[in-house]
Amino acid sequence: MYGKRILLGITGGIAAYKIAYLIRSLKKQEAEVKCIMTPASSAFISPLVVSTLSENEVSVEFWNKETGSWNNHVAYAEWADVFLIAPATMNTVGKMANGLCDNLLLATYFSMKGKTIIAPAMDLDMYKHPSFLRNMDTLTKDGVSIIPAENGALASGLEGEGRMAEPEHIQSYLTEYFKNIVPKGAGKICITAGPTQEAIDPVRYISNHSSGKMGFAIAKAALIRGYEVELICGPTHEELAHPKLNRTNINTAEELLKAVQNCWQECDFGIFSAAVADFRPVNMSSTKLKKGSAEEVIGLVQNPDILKWASFHRDNNQKVVGFALETNNEQENALLKLERKNLDLVVLNSTQDEGATFGGEKNKVTIFDKKGLVCDLKLQTKFDVAVNLIDIIEKLDA
Ligand code: CTP
Repeated sequence: MYGKRILLGITGGIAAYKIAYLIRSLKKQEAEVKCIMTPASSAFISPLVVSTLSENEVSVEFWNKETGSWNNHVAYAEWADVFLIAPATMNTVGKMANGLCDNLLLATYFSMKGKTIIAPAMDLDMYKHPSFLRNMDTLTKDGVSIIPAENGALASGLEGEGRMAEPEHIQSYLTEYFKNIVPKGAGKICITAGPTQEAIDPVRYISNHSSGKMGFAIAKAALIRGYEVELICGPTHEELAHPKLNRTNINTAEELLKAVQNCWQECDFGIFSAAVADFRPVNMSSTKLKKGSAEEVIGLVQNPDILKWASFHRDNNQKVVGFALETNNEQENALLKLERKNLDLVVLNSTQDEGATFGGEKNKVTIFDKKGLVCDLKLQTKFDVAVNLIDIIEKLDA
């Protein structure tokens, strides 16, 4: 379930209390979980529990009354790999089958391009009512998959078919579902990440504050989409393991260039997020510079521009994405880099943006192509930025 984006819709049935276990188990398996609840469901499970376990905000209404902002059902639908509605009550199933759209959960269902799966839950007479069976038939024809209810004790005190499938059965269903899905991505991506270190002497170097987190988030997003990834990174504490990942550790810009040159021909895209030191000392002292003997001036020589090299040594199908970290005249500088380095996209990071700090979990970026602004993303996790970036790169190909 690693990195799978599961949108969980919770409707108002007693089985809603079991959803806490499902969310926990999905999170343990490293799925991303966002939840939408119908207003009725919050009588059965608190949005606070759902939000805490899913580690995401929960939406119940079309409007967030506190902030006055819109809970965007289209954005939810675009985000999700799968929309799982569990428990799905008779009321919700009926509305889904008949095009009724009076809450956020339903509006999201009608906006979904990906798969919707439902796990119905109701009393046994409702579960076999002809009206419910007709609606289930309609939903099946509409492409919705159904995790059948199970037999056993019901909240009414009766016994029979109608209780929601146990969370572990829902989990197994999802695991099987994802096993059979072939990811969209086919091809190889070269990603550079982290800082470079340019040695002055055996104990000192020139470097910068880059943590490598953004580059690793891009690698993770690309792997989830099914790409093979050549991740070439400078010194970082970040870790990532995946059968389709080939990681090369480097220290200097020159080593970075060599590693890119080794793999570039086989790659379909290059995403160059490394913070490469522009200069290196002309000579590295073989012994530690002593206070008294140290030269006052360390001579510097310019490093190769790795991104520029890749961009000017590519065939027509290879796409190249660069980053631009700017402190002032941000847009102008980013567009100049796009042109000068012959890029398909430039991802602008501004030091002026609050929350987008070195080493932080979040980032705020604006993306431009040769025609101008592509999108101005709000502050979000580096992983979400990465997912958006991969979406945009895939559209470049079309
Ligand atoms: N880059 C690179 N090799 C370098 C310098 C930069 O591959 N020697 C890449 C970075 O990975 C990034 C983009 O070029 O994708 C822009 O990097 P940045 O440091 O913002 O720009 P510079 O070209 O170095 O220009 P300046 O420092 O003047 O802003």
